[in-house]
Amino acid sequence: MGTRRRIVAGNWKMNLDRAEAVALAEGVASGANSCANCSLILCPPSIYLAAVANALKLSKGNSPSGVGLGGQNLHNQPKGAFTGEIAPAMLIDIGCSSCIVGHSERRTLFGETDAIVNEKAKAALAAGLTPIICVGETLEEREQDRTAAVVTEQIMGSLEGFTPADLTASIIAYEPVWAIGTGKVATPEQAQEVHALIRQQLATLTDEETANQVVIQYGGSVKPDNAGILASQQDIDGALVGGASLKADDFLAIAKHFAEAS
Ligand code: PGA
Repeated sequence: MGTRRRIVAGNWKMNLDRAEAVALAEGVASGANSCANCSLILCPPSIYLAAVANALKLSKGNSPSGVGLGGQNLHNQPKGAFTGEIAPAMLIDIGCSSCIVGHSERRTLFGETDAIVNEKAKAALAAGLTPIICVGETLEEREQDRTAAVVTEQIMGSLEGFTPADLTASIIAYEPVWAIGTGKVATPEQAQEVHALIRQQLATLTDEETANQVVIQYGGSVKPDNAGILASQQDIDGALVGGASLKADDFLAIAKHFAEAS
């Protein structure tokens, strides 16, 4: 603790038009120096990645505003007959440094299993992208007291075969499904409990020193008014923000809380 980076990512999902995406990126970039101790990543719809890269003035691994670009999804193969898919190297080519992998919407609506998430995360790492690997239980699973079992299974399955270097090059996002887009945020205690469990699992996979370096984000209805208390928890190192990332001021206000907690 203390030395871990703070990283807040905005998952724009399938929202905004091109002009709105550009304006949002410019708004975030112009305020990014107010939260200098916290890294920012924007994950626009893939069709707007080039426009946002341009708005951020990104050039091959260089971001003058310090704001990074991420994909929302990728394919696990480097190229070929995969209509509609995007290869990891294409994300790098357009200026991305990271990519969300295994978001709960991908898992539930598009059938992504832990095995698929594992393949995609490894493909991202092989290409030089930071995978933001998402896990989280449903409301039913929480009510059945299965949160720890479900999250453990997702972590073990999604990170199978990871080396310590793979793990420190990744971000984990704990997103309880019942908190995503619902306005129902996990209490800081609920979130911290699962983050600590995840860190314990990461230590089992590798070793304690490695686990202590891994950034674990919380996601699920993070807003400016609840980010401060979440950021103060020992194992919450950042946030993956959906709805509130669509407003530059809200997104920056969230990041500021994490910058101040660093
Ligand atoms: P939310 O979404 O902030 O709108 O709840 C979070 C996410 O899906 O990553």
